[in-house]
Amino acid sequence: MSSQSIDRYAVMGNPIAHSKSPQIHQQFAEQSGEQLSYEKVKVETENFADAIADFYRNNGKGLNITVPLKEEAFRLATRLTERAQRAGAVNTLILHAENNYTGDNTDGVGMVNDLTDNHNIELRDKDILILGAGGAVRGVLEPVIKQQPARLVIANRTKERAENLASDFSDIAKIEVCEFSQLAGQQFDIIINGTSASLSGELPPLPDMLFKAEAAAYDMMYGKEDTPFMQWAKQNQATTILDGLGMLVEQAAESFYCWRQVRPKTKNVIQTIRNNL
Ligand code: ATR
Repeated sequence: MSSQSIDRYAVMGNPIAHSKSPQIHQQFAEQSGEQLSYEKVKVETENFADAIADFYRNNGKGLNITVPLKEEAFRLATRLTERAQRAGAVNTLILHAENNYTGDNTDGVGMVNDLTDNHNIELRDKDILILGAGGAVRGVLEPVIKQQPARLVIANRTKERAENLASDFSDIAKIEVCEFSQLAGQQFDIIINGTSASLSGELPPLPDMLFKAEAAAYDMMYGKEDTPFMQWAKQNQATTILDGLGMLVEQAAESFYCWRQVRPKTKNVIQTIRNNL
């Protein structure tokens, strides 16, 4: 196959240099024998629509979208999946007609699949606490709700933001909201950190004793070292403590599936990316 006719995919964002998506998707393609290329493209917000059209003209078949373009991708997509609609953000564009894309969001399914498939942690009938009420949390809520937890609580520094989020999902779930201090005395099976506090080496001010026996802690962030949230979970005797690297690879796998109808195996890819952190 000539390089001109090979199906092209890419991730667009800014900054983009450190994106691991090309590594991940190239491994998926090699493993499944799919003929495709995958690049990273730095795009300024004002040039985004042109960049998508240009990519389409050059055999572009699908895109991943990252910071700060996910909300703009939501506006530009001509169709939206239910989960993207709920997320208010798009991380995957799937070509459905000439330069017309369906906007999808695979972040939430990525996190749920990491928990359930890779770590055997079911969300159904569990008491779940989510920390944070920003874009990252909004992005995962619909797939989490679909798992039918017994209880879903969102705690956030700014309670009003959590209230707004709960009200946006009130037709499909009864989400409880509170401030961090109001968590004292409560216990959960799964605590998910969706705040960006880890980015600045910080930890939300959480009371102790929040984990039930056999509980799991999940940080949507990842890094070479344990995040402050993971260290806290260790001190508080969580049984399973996970970072968001599996979520990163699983959201990519879901995008790959949406584009190619081929479901890649993720285990070795997660390990390779982990080894290279
Ligand atoms: P993202 O797209 O990563 O979700 P965001 O929409 O800016 O980014 O949301 C960041 C989230 O992390 C918010 O829930 C924020 O709390 P506020 O809504 O009160 O701002 C939370 N956050 C960031 N730094 C934090 C910190 N040091 N302690 C606790 N929460 C923090």
